[in-house]
Amino acid sequence: MRRPFIAGNWKMYKTPAEAKTLISQLLPLLKKADIDVAVCPPFTSLETVLKLTADTVLRVGAQDVFWEEEGAYTGEISPVMLFDMGCTYCIVGHSERRQYFGETDTSVNKKVKALLKQKLIPIVCVGETLAQREEGITKEVCRLQIEQGLAGLKPEEAARLVIAYEPVWAIGTGKTASAGDAQEVIGYIREVLAARFGKESAGQIRILYGGSVKPDNIQELMAEPDIDGALVGGASLKAKDFAEIVNYKNS
Ligand code: PGA
Repeated sequence: MRRPFIAGNWKMYKTPAEAKTLISQLLPLLKKADIDVAVCPPFTSLETVLKLTADTVLRVGAQDVFWEEEGAYTGEISPVMLFDMGCTYCIVGHSERRQYFGETDTSVNKKVKALLKQKLIPIVCVGETLAQREEGITKEVCRLQIEQGLAGLKPEEAARLVIAYEPVWAIGTGKTASAGDAQEVIGYIREVLAARFGKESAGQIRILYGGSVKPDNIQELMAEPDIDGALVGGASLKAKDFAEIVNYKNS
């Protein structure tokens, strides 16, 4: 059984002071349930959030990383640094990084390997643009992103990953893929993973849906057999909304 996982991607929002307010509003709202929960603040708020969540159910992730352990790489942060701080997860290959910062499947692959080496859990994002969806190549795009992004991993390494299927046209737009459409692509991604890493490992990989997830659509998404959770952007910046999403089992 895959344990459900809901992660909040704060993107470039929340100073340490604002992060403190959000976390202190969020923690009392989280109900005990059999699921994993994480937030991914910007680097500058990681320390604040890690301190505030130390003895709680909330885990913490970063939004990006460089693949080297240390060195003359001005402006970069390494997996060693994230692990040392106490991070558990790190988002890799988010479409905004692919679109604005030159992230490619090759750099995703290096980052995934570097994170796994430090016992950090990569949340690997894949997904098609609107033009690619309209062209009818959604599955092909996701297959290539998975195959190239995860090239060279052993099945037992792959089993530890989290994948996030985020159709680019659904991110921050209020347009969600229907639960059925999301299941179709996510089910296909699991087939691609099974072909590459074997059925057993593929069955352990958690695959999240991301793109305008809100309290009112989380239930139907989670009802789908291959959707194991959500990567939540905008709604994770509001304590009440994110808590409602996390507490989907209790509502
Ligand atoms: P959104 O973002 O929930 O605001 O659409 C999701 C994401 O980019 O991870």
